Amino acid sequence: MCGRGAASVCRASYGPFVDAKTEELRAAHDVLAELYAARLAGALDHMPAERAVLGLFCDLTLAAGLGTDVGDIGCGTGRLTPYLAARGLSPRGIDLSPGMIHVAHRDHPGFDFTVADLRELPFGDASLTGVACWYSLMYLAPSARPAAFGELARVVKPGGYLVTAFKAGDSEVRRGGRSTGLGVEFDVYWLSPREMERRVIDAGFAIVFWGGRPAEGQEGSPQGYLLAQRS
Ligand SMILES: C[S@@+](CC[C@H](N)C(=O)[O-])C[C@H]1O[C@@H](n2cnc3c(N)ncnc32)[C@H](O)[C@@H]1O
Repeated sequence: MCGRGAASVCRASYGPFVDAKTEELRAAHDVLAELYAARLAGALDHMPAERAVLGLFCDLTLAAGLGTDVGDIGCGTGRLTPYLAARGLSPRGIDLSPGMIHVAHRDHPGFDFTVADLRELPFGDASLTGVACWYSLMYLAPSARPAAFGELARVVKPGGYLVTAFKAGDSEVRRGGRSTGLGVEFDVYWLSPREMERRVIDAGFAIVFWGGRPAEGQEGSPQGYLLAQRS
């Protein structure tokens, strides 16, 4: 497994996605890892809507009776992993950023975290009962979306589930990271709920729940939630 050592050790995991935008995104999230860990530790405790959607994902995934293996896709610092495990699932986290994976190992020892790109997942066909994509699909350029959503569908068993949380917007490209003051920037797209729904359906899922809430506090956009079952 990759992720405990130097970032360079992990470069082979990127597969075909070694391009300037991917490198910019990875490097930025390496820098952001400690900030995320500090800001987001315990955040779920104060976010009942997010707990409710994740809880529904856990309940439906367990009820499917297809096993407990799920992917935490774009897991960042791994903050969701203990929550998913406490609800009876067996999560495996993947993230593009070695820095994020390093922090995930440090802060959540005993869980499985790997450096990987969600466009080329290190999971077999129909090997997982679910995938959780929590604010991790907003970096995909339009041309990459069909294949990326298809990759998520590839690894989920028929009858299994996908859940995603996302910043809801107009799907236009923005530059993220600037507000952190850490000198990082990357492309980010706040997908419209309509596009998110269409991408998930086109990949082979059927929607079972969608929801949203207005922006709170420092959030720059409303938040969208979508839960879908693999056909
Ligand atoms: C906003 S953070 C969310 C992290 C975590 N899901 C959470 O809710 O705390 C987005 C994460 O997605 C990861 N990410 C972005 N693009 C990715 C890709 N193509 N493959 C894997 N991870 C990716 C980033 O490295 C970052 O850690």
